[in-house]
Amino acid sequence: MKMRLDRWLATVSAGSRSEVKQWIRGGQAAVNGRVILDPALSFETEQDHLSLNGRELDGRVMRHVMLFKPAGILTAARDAKQPTVMDLLPPAYRSIGCMPVGRLDKDTTGLLLLTCDGELNHRLLSPSRHVDKRYRALVDGTLEEKDVEVFAAGMDLGDFTAQPARLTILKPSLGEVVIAEGKFHQVKRMFAAVGHEVLELHRCAFGPLELDPALTEGQWRELTPEEEKALREAAGMGNA
Ligand code: URA
Repeated sequence: MKMRLDRWLATVSAGSRSEVKQWIRGGQAAVNGRVILDPALSFETEQDHLSLNGRELDGRVMRHVMLFKPAGILTAARDAKQPTVMDLLPPAYRSIGCMPVGRLDKDTTGLLLLTCDGELNHRLLSPSRHVDKRYRALVDGTLEEKDVEVFAAGMDLGDFTAQPARLTILKPSLGEVVIAEGKFHQVKRMFAAVGHEVLELHRCAFGPLELDPALTEGQWRELTPEEEKALREAAGMGNA
């Protein structure tokens, strides 16, 4: 992405726009090893190398993250009162515009993607793309074959009709469900419709990506290039 040097440096460092202008004019910033004194010059953020006072900065503004969301944290860009998933990442991720892809309820755990790419984010959530999400649900009561059939038929939830979903019974009270939509409280409402309260909900997979088993609750990592490619393909952006 092409960006003016002052905006780029302010985005990836802790400096304000006026501070970084002073740094640049004072000869503190270099791109690809050359000191640049003009804050208005533009560079390629994903390719050019930015350094400040001789120290290389990570200048990428297009990043994609997988987070193991813990329970008790809001999925939101910010909140006046409660901690959000953004508080689990370094502050630079907020300034480069990294945003959660959809949302998990406060008490839901598991795979949450975050991306700086607004179009990718939008397409992954678009109902027309049918990107699967896989959840494990611990429920009260005993799951039965007739529940699997109701899920498979699609169900009327009052304000909308849930598309057919795959429910697999793993244990009497543990089910794995795959849905291609993401309506508010959808999985909990689907189980409630067949008489089961969800006691714990965990997202294991989003589209082609599984939650990395090396991550523990609250931990995150950036997507690998292969994972990013698979995600773009799932979003119908294979050549982007
Ligand atoms: N469905 C729900 O009910 N809750 C979530 O957090 C995600 C899907």
